[in-house]
Amino acid sequence: CSAIPFFGAIDPDLLDKVLPYVREMVCKRGTIVFFEKDEGDTMYFIRSGSVDIYTFDGTKKVILATLREGDYFGEMALIRPGLVRSATAEAAETVKLYTLGRSDFEHLVASDPRLVIHLLEDTMERLRRANRQIYELTFLNVRTRIIKRLARLAEEHGRRTDEGVLIDMKLTHQHLADMVGAVRETVTKVLLELQENNSIRVENKKILIFDPEQMMRLE
Ligand code: CMP
Repeated sequence: CSAIPFFGAIDPDLLDKVLPYVREMVCKRGTIVFFEKDEGDTMYFIRSGSVDIYTFDGTKKVILATLREGDYFGEMALIRPGLVRSATAEAAETVKLYTLGRSDFEHLVASDPRLVIHLLEDTMERLRRANRQIYELTFLNVRTRIIKRLARLAEEHGRRTDEGVLIDMKLTHQHLADMVGAVRETVTKVLLELQENNSIRVENKKILIFDPEQMMRLE
């Protein structure tokens, strides 16, 4: 559990008591961990791999977040019994998860108040990101949204190389489109434009951005 910050916030004695209750599961790419509106009494910690969190009404899909190693999800339905899942969780690649049931979670939170602060800090960060997304979806045109999202993905999932920052996830054009409320064809067009003006390069479905700061400043 050492790679999971949530567990790092727990008193080691308490952690020893909790670990026996944590179960491990592995999901292949495309596996739905749970659907939006399902009832839920389990939360999940990502040990490796990544998970897409999205809403889907049967035709339109919006990816709210892509969570990675060290992140957790499913805590919202857990905190308030009776609340259903606010979004669908799908393995974006093979993912190893640790699961924790409601009563063990409640026991943990009651035993160590620092966990509540930790959860609150993460929730505030998610709210901050969601607010930024609201601004971008409201005021920016689709081309700028795509470019800014690439710059943000470089911040959040980037690995520095000699030439720039490599977004360390395999991104399909559809995936990127679902993150910014665009259609796939527009993403393809904008990515071609960015390649032609030497702002990005695509290698093995991964995008290298030569100067993410300059891309972020774009209006
Ligand atoms: P829950 O509502 O139980 O199921 C869906 C989960 O997705 C939710 O708990 C959170 O853990 C996670 N989630 C929902 N919205 C966001 C968001 N905007 N950013 C990151 N994670 C989210």
